[in-house]
Amino acid sequence: MKALITAGGRGTRLRPITHTNNKHLIPIANKPMIHYAIEAVIDAGIKDIGIVINPDTGEEIKEALGNGERWGASFTYIIQEAPIGLAHVVKVSQDFIKDEPFVFYLGDNVIVGGIKRFLEEFKKSGNNCHLVLAKVKDPQRFGVPEIKDGRIVRVEEKPKVPKSDFAVTGIYFYDHHIFEAVNNIKPSWRGELEISDAHQYLIDKGYKIGFSEITGWWKDTGKPEDLLEANRLVLEQIINSKESKIKGEVDKDSEIIGKVIIEEGAKILKSSILGPVIIGENTIIENSYIGPFTSIYYDCHIKNSEIQYSIIMEKSKIIDIETRIEKSILGKSVQLMKGDSRPRTYCFILGDKGSIKLI
Ligand code: G1P
Repeated sequence: MKALITAGGRGTRLRPITHTNNKHLIPIANKPMIHYAIEAVIDAGIKDIGIVINPDTGEEIKEALGNGERWGASFTYIIQEAPIGLAHVVKVSQDFIKDEPFVFYLGDNVIVGGIKRFLEEFKKSGNNCHLVLAKVKDPQRFGVPEIKDGRIVRVEEKPKVPKSDFAVTGIYFYDHHIFEAVNNIKPSWRGELEISDAHQYLIDKGYKIGFSEITGWWKDTGKPEDLLEANRLVLEQIINSKESKIKGEVDKDSEIIGKVIIEEGAKILKSSILGPVIIGENTIIENSYIGPFTSIYYDCHIKNSEIQYSIIMEKSKIIDIETRIEKSILGKSVQLMKGDSRPRTYCFILGDKGSIKLI
């Protein structure tokens, strides 16, 4: 059994964060998003992993993840020259997969609870393809199955009128017949080889497709609000499984309530932290309030400010901001400060597609 994980998507709906950050390396609860996919696959006992990258941003992924040794696994990097669909990702990976069954895992999908159960169901079923489904409110954003008498009879990509309220998540199990499918389907109206068309091909040819339903939660982190939601869900999970873990320093004038992780070298001074919250290595929180569902990565400085339900990436500074910051995502080395010049003005240095809401 092998695994194929995508890390090539450009994350256009997450701009401006993805102008300078590889989407798959955006931290969720202080861990690069793609680590969740890698760890889920390894936890299911799969060590031989192909990681599909694009020619422009692939080096960054390689540098960040290495050869897999850190996880006791082996990574093979596969380049997809152009972003022309998920079925195309499978197609360009045929030399790596060969004839083995494999799990295909989209690196921007975050789930809690792992994939072991789905892998076992796939193996036990003897199906050629096993899809993992999740009930969603907005199926038209996804691949959607039509289910009749407990079997998938059709899969449509982003249908205007969905035939069920299930999304096909980005976790798929295949045997080698998927290559017949991806080598025979034609590009869709948007010029892509759609994974849903490959599934439809398998159905039409009479191959067996099974499915499992995710009972926990699953998030496709396409949009900024999805990142915040994934961050919330992962924090809730971490916090459920562990006691508060305080490795950094908390002074006697600070108050920690609920489950909070404070990593090595972090300092909490005269501040109040209401979990679930994670504070990264060497970050300083001074005279501030950090509220639920906030992840602050390493080497940040927060002073005289209040933040909740937010993701703050490494080396950012938030100093003297009077209004509470909420539902915010700050990239690396962002500085938010109060100016003291007269006349009182706002001074912004914002990248393309930045977004600020002031009261
Ligand atoms: C892709 C697939 C879609 C699937 C989704 C899951 O969509 O095409 O069938 O439901 O991933 O994350 P995309 O995220 O590329 O729009």
